[in-house]
Formats: sequence, C-alpha cells, structure tokens
Amino acid sequence: MAEEKAAKTAVLMVEERVFEPPKELVENSNVMQYMKEKGFKTEMEMRAWTSKNYVEFWGEMAKKYATWHKPFDKVLDWQPPYAKWFPGGEISMSYNCLDRHIKTWRKNKVAYIAVGEPVGDVRLFTFWDLYREVNKLANGLKSLGVKEGDRVSIYLPMIPELSIAMLAVTRIGAIHSVVFSGFSAKAYGDRVKDAESVVSITCDGFWRRGKTVPLKTQADEGTADAPSVKHQIVYKRTGQEVPWNKGKDIWWHDLVADQPIHCDPVFVDSEHRLYILYTSGTTGKPKGIEHAVGGYCVGPPQTLHWVFDLKEEDVWWCAADIGWVTGHSYIVYAPLSLGSTGVMYEGSPDFPDFGRWWKIIQDYGVSVLYTSPTAIRMFMKAGPEWCDKYDLTSLRLLGSVGEPINPEAWMWYRKHVGRDELQIMDTWWQTETGTFINSPLPTTPLKPGSCTFPLPGYNAEVMDEAGNIVPYGEGGNVVITEPYPSMLRAFYRDPERYMKTYWNYYWKVHPGWYLAGDQARRDKDGYFFIQGRIDDVLNVAGHRIGNSEVESALVSHPSCAEAAVVGKPDEVKGEVIIAFCVLRSGNEPSDKLKKDLVNHVKSTLGGIASPSELHFVNDVPKTRSGKIMRRIIKSKALGKDVGDTSSLANPEAVDAIPKIV
Ligand code: PRX
Repeated sequence: MAEEKAAKTAVLMVEERVFEPPKELVENSNVMQYMKEKGFKTEMEMRAWTSKNYVEFWGEMAKKYATWHKPFDKVLDWQPPYAKWFPGGEISMSYNCLDRHIKTWRKNKVAYIAVGEPVGDVRLFTFWDLYREVNKLANGLKSLGVKEGDRVSIYLPMIPELSIAMLAVTRIGAIHSVVFSGFSAKAYGDRVKDAESVVSITCDGFWRRGKTVPLKTQADEGTADAPSVKHQIVYKRTGQEVPWNKGKDIWWHDLVADQPIHCDPVFVDSEHRLYILYTSGTTGKPKGIEHAVGGYCVGPPQTLHWVFDLKEEDVWWCAADIGWVTGHSYIVYAPLSLGSTGVMYEGSPDFPDFGRWWKIIQDYGVSVLYTSPTAIRMFMKAGPEWCDKYDLTSLRLLGSVGEPINPEAWMWYRKHVGRDELQIMDTWWQTETGTFINSPLPTTPLKPGSCTFPLPGYNAEVMDEAGNIVPYGEGGNVVITEPYPSMLRAFYRDPERYMKTYWNYYWKVHPGWYLAGDQARRDKDGYFFIQGRIDDVLNVAGHRIGNSEVESALVSHPSCAEAAVVGKPDEVKGEVIIAFCVLRSGNEPSDKLKKDLVNHVKSTLGGIASPSELHFVNDVPKTRSGKIMRRIIKSKALGKDVGDTSSLANPEAVDAIPKIV
C-alpha cells in the first residue's frame, strides 16, 4: 500500500434517512437477551463496554458458543502481530458442528436444504446425515494416509459434499484449502502447489446455467505437475465422462463404501490451523490466509447468532459461495455450529430465469437472506417484477456483504425483497477477519449504505496517516486496533508479506494496529460508511474522493443499475472522473441521459465529483465474487495492458470498455 495514498478523504454524501428497527424484532432479539442479562441500558453502552473489555467478553463467549474438550488456560496471548486465542484449550470444529447436535433432538433436524441447479433436484441433509457422511469420508481420508496437519485441497461446487469434505478434513486435524470452483485449472494448481496438499477432492462436473462444467478435467490439469498430491477423490455429481488417472484417482463413493459411520474427532490445540484460504492480493501471488480452530469455533457462531438473530426455527440462506470466506464462515461453520437449517444453492441466480432465488425463498420458507450488493444490483437491472411474482413473506431479516452497498440498492432491496419493512444488516469484513467486524444488530437504527459500528468485542477506527483518529464527519483509513478470536494468524509460509501488508503501516505509532486497506468516513453520529479500497480512491484537484460515493450517486438516478468510476490523469486537476454506467432494463442510452446523469452527480455531490466523461456499458468487469475490478477498467480505458483477466466472472466486459485517451 503506497504511503502517499493514505490521506484523509473528502465527504460528499450525507445520509439523513434513518430506519428504526421494529419493536418486536428488538424485544425478541438474541442480543437483547444478552443486554438484559447484563443490565445494559442501551446498545451503544453494550457495544462500548464489550469492545473495551474485549478479553473478558470473548472469554465469556468462548464458553457460551463452543464446547471445549479441554478448557483453555487463558483467553488471549497477544504478541503483535501474532495472537493466540484460548491457549491451552483443545477443541474440534467437527465436534462442535456435528457431535454435539446429534446428542440432542436436533439429530434429525435438517442442516442443509441443497438445491441443485436443475429444477427439481433437491436433497435434504439432517445433522445425522452429515455426521454419517463426514465420518465415512474422514475414515476414508485416514485410509489414504492423511494425517493431522496435512493439507487437503478441495475444488468442489456449491453442493453439500463441499461442506462434508471440509468437516471431514478438520475432523482428523488436517487443514483444508478450498478453491472456488469457478477458478481455472491453473489457479487451482497454483494453490495446490503452494499448500503442498497431499490430497485433492473434486467432482466430475457441476451445473452452471444449464450446462455442465468439467471440473475433474480442470483439477487434473491443475494438479498434473503437483507431486505432493498422492490421491484425488472424485465425487460423482453429473455422471459425465471423465478421464481417469489410475493409481491416483478414486471415486468418493468407492472410498466411503465400507467405511464405518463413526470416526473419533481429533481434538487439537486451539491455535491449530483450521484452514488456508487464498485471496488475491493487489499484485502477484495469492496470499494464503491462515485461520485457527479455537477462535473459529467462537467468532462465527457468535456473530451469526447476534447479527442475524438466528432462532432454532429460522431458515437461513447465505447466498454466497463456500469458495469465499463468506461461505466458509456463514454457510459451513457458523450455522452448523448453531444447529441451524440452511439453504445451499448450486447454480446461477438467473437460471432458468431471474425468479429462481425468489422461488427458492417461497418454496423453503427462507426467513433470513444474506447476499451481496452485486446480486442486488443485478436484480435491480432485471426489474422488480421477478421478486414481485413470489411470496416472500417468510423473510424477516436481510443482509449484505462484499462491497459498499449503494443507498439506492439498499432502498430497492428493502422495498422489493423486504416489503418496505425489513432491516438490512450491512456487514463489513474480510477474508482476513473471518467474521463480521462492523455491522448493525437487530436493535440498531439503520442508515442506508452504512455498516454502522464495530460489533461487540471488536475495535475499529478511522485514522489519518499519522494514526490520529479523524473527527466524525471526515474520512480516512479503516484500522482494527485490537485482536479478536477469528482474526487471521499468518500468511502461509510468508511472514514477511504478512507483516508488510497489514502491520507495518502504523507499527511505529502503535504495534498491533491492522491496516484493513479500506477507506471510510464516520458521520456525525459515528456511523461508518465504507468509501472503497484505498487503491481505488480518486484524487481530483487535491480532494480525495471515495469511488463508492460517486458510484452511489450515479446508482441513485432511476435509470442507472450499476456504475464504476475510475480516475484519468489530468494536467490541471491531477485526476478527472470517468464513469461507466449500466442501465436498468427499459432505459436506452442517449446523450441526454448522459447529461442527466452527470448533472445528477453534480447536484447530489457537488461539481468536484461530477464525471468529466460518462460511458454506457452492458456490464462492468467483476471478480467471481462480485467485486468491480476498477484497476482493470482503468487500464483498459487508458489503453494500458490489462494483464490476466481469466479470474474475472465476465472477461468479455473488459472488451466493451472503450479506450478514452
Ligand atoms: O473492501 C471491503 C469489501 O470487501 C473487502 C474484503 O473482501 P474479501 O476478503 O473478498 O471478503 C469479502 C467477504 C467478507 C473489504 O476489504 N467489503 C466487504 N464487505 C463490505 C465491503 N465494503 C463495504 N461494505 C461491506 N459491507
């Protein structure tokens, strides 16, 4: 992160709308129960106390949310930048997700409603089903010689077997490295080689927009020159023909056929690694983020229980992919740990049409939906008639993650999905953090576009480059100032980069302050508004402007569904703003509309933020997790080399970006 980039940012947009939570939601919420038990009068008092006394708080939460095989000696050992949470404790994630439920009435409660992409392909998995399948696979892995501490790479689509594979790996104390099934053979291979995995788990193929994706072929290609991989387990999903490597490949069903349905969980030290998840850095080689078991048995279930208020009878749908951290934490570990019922959907949101998600909600009575701004903007573009067609009255709470949610998209989500009455939990966090850091609670009055405040037990600030907290009303760097149980522990075999990426920046001011890489402002009431990644911030005539504010202003125009803005070097102003807009269905590009949009930004944010050029495009380039790739847009527009675009969800969108110099 370049030093000169971490200055204060201008604040252009002020959100005045406030949405108070309904009384019934507040009164019955899980967090209110805690507040009553502890005698806190207000949510803010509770947030302040728990964040200040975070060690005591997490010690208490660790006992409440996790079952320990051996109790921990101490809550925290913090030697910045290395934390040990719950040292001395021994625990098993697999035990916490499965064994403790099958001893109760939840044994035959549905854990997953697994909806395949082909219409009608639905499988239900109870906790007992998962327990049985996990144990058989765990025994199978042992029979292949997999030991505690070994790495196992998993390349599977959104089917319950992905969750089963993760739980089986952790059950025997091995470490999983899940790679998103939309990634290429090479991306898989690079990650397998970096982790030196001993086993690869994949499937023959899976469904995407009505076609099958030949995953096994890709896995073969990726692991062909990975000598550490001794075995490859192949789950049969589509039944398509696959190439076969004798001596290396084994069908999942053959491996587990004769395995016993019990396998004792290995209880590991609290700091034992649960998983590695590779996240792409701004440059070069992906970073292998390491997470530890003990903290993960505490943070994810606690945050899910408090933020999304899960009750025994809720049907939870986190519509992310398990290949990302959102799925690791909130499709696998947190909901299973809480004994919840969750929906898992294999396919594309627009297959066979844009009504698919809403039909799933209607069919299974989903009560809490958690998705991304990208998905919401996609539905905005398609038009509200798709969700209006279905009965969504089972929903009682909504959520958003992954990018700043434009206030207009927030309002659309609330209106068309949330019947104009549901609260939206905008959760800000990262692969590195493992859990939500900033988020509303069901008791929090909301402002569209704000992830509100640091959650109980978490500490985040907005700072200038010298480490001073910037006053309310101004913008700066998001800094996490204290450790928390689910935080990353290291980069896999790259301590130097770990230090450099997050900790060096403020080390001289205060060792242990974590630079998140995002910019945010706090409004007069202390509400956080994320302004975008530090590297995406614009600098116009000496004013640092968060890209997300300009994009949000564009999206607040009734014709615009999505926008991406980038800076173009300018001799006079330093940079001028170039906007790329995707129109909502029913709108035609025209010069008049261009002018309207530019004027709209001018009147919303002021002349300083008005784009000097605006282009209409059908789509903007995005990562497969839905983040707009502004760096690629900028390179294309400026006629520079865009680099490798194979990791994009829609590489064709790059071609459509016009050259503007
Ligand atoms: O820039 C922030 C954005 O996504 C980044 C983290 O990405 P990743 O590690 O892929 O994890 C995504 C799922 C947690 C952050 O640094 N981001 C995530 N959530 C939000 C967000 N930006 C604004 N608002 C959010 N709610």
